[in-house]
Amino acid sequence: MDASDIRSDLSDVLYTADEIQQRLDDMAAQIERDYDGRELLLVGVLNGALMVMADLSRTLTRHCEMDWMAISSYGSGTQSSGVVRILKDLNTDLAGRHVLVVEDIVDTGLTLAYLIQNLKSRNPASLEVMAMFRKPDALNSPVTVKYVGFDLPNEFVVGYGLDYAGRYRNLRDVGTLSPHVYS
Ligand code: PRP
Repeated sequence: MDASDIRSDLSDVLYTADEIQQRLDDMAAQIERDYDGRELLLVGVLNGALMVMADLSRTLTRHCEMDWMAISSYGSGTQSSGVVRILKDLNTDLAGRHVLVVEDIVDTGLTLAYLIQNLKSRNPASLEVMAMFRKPDALNSPVTVKYVGFDLPNEFVVGYGLDYAGRYRNLRDVGTLSPHVYS
């Protein structure tokens, strides 16, 4: 669905589907340059990374492999605790592979910090992160995100994989949620 389909649910449209694809074009070109001559394994983190994984992989004009992890944060509330449980592990052996983790969003960075530590122990040849969106707190995170799409404000942002209560992931654009939806 598009922002126009759920206009009253959004207080603002931050990035349109076209703007997201344009940014992905730039990022894909940079990734192609950086991984020239090397096999590339994209590791998507379910569920949010579904959209960016599908679009980034198809924007690339070279081969790549894809695998998926599903993880869940322990703890209650909306803030991630940094303690992560693996619900679905990779099918691929990472030893000697050039791995690019694909995330929809880095917020506190705690999920990513755990994930990077876990994946590093599997001895990949290289390990980098691509995140379509970054929240302000991510700047204090110990994890370096090499490829960042867009910075977001500290608000309820939905769309392009980002959900609120399980909804809005299938919104093509990205926008801030209207307070009447969550208050
Ligand atoms: C989101 C996102 C990251 C994590 C980032 O996942 O996909 O994995 O939160 O938050 P952090 O930087 O504060 O750790 P979420 O747990 O919401 O699950 P989802 O991908 O299924 O939406």
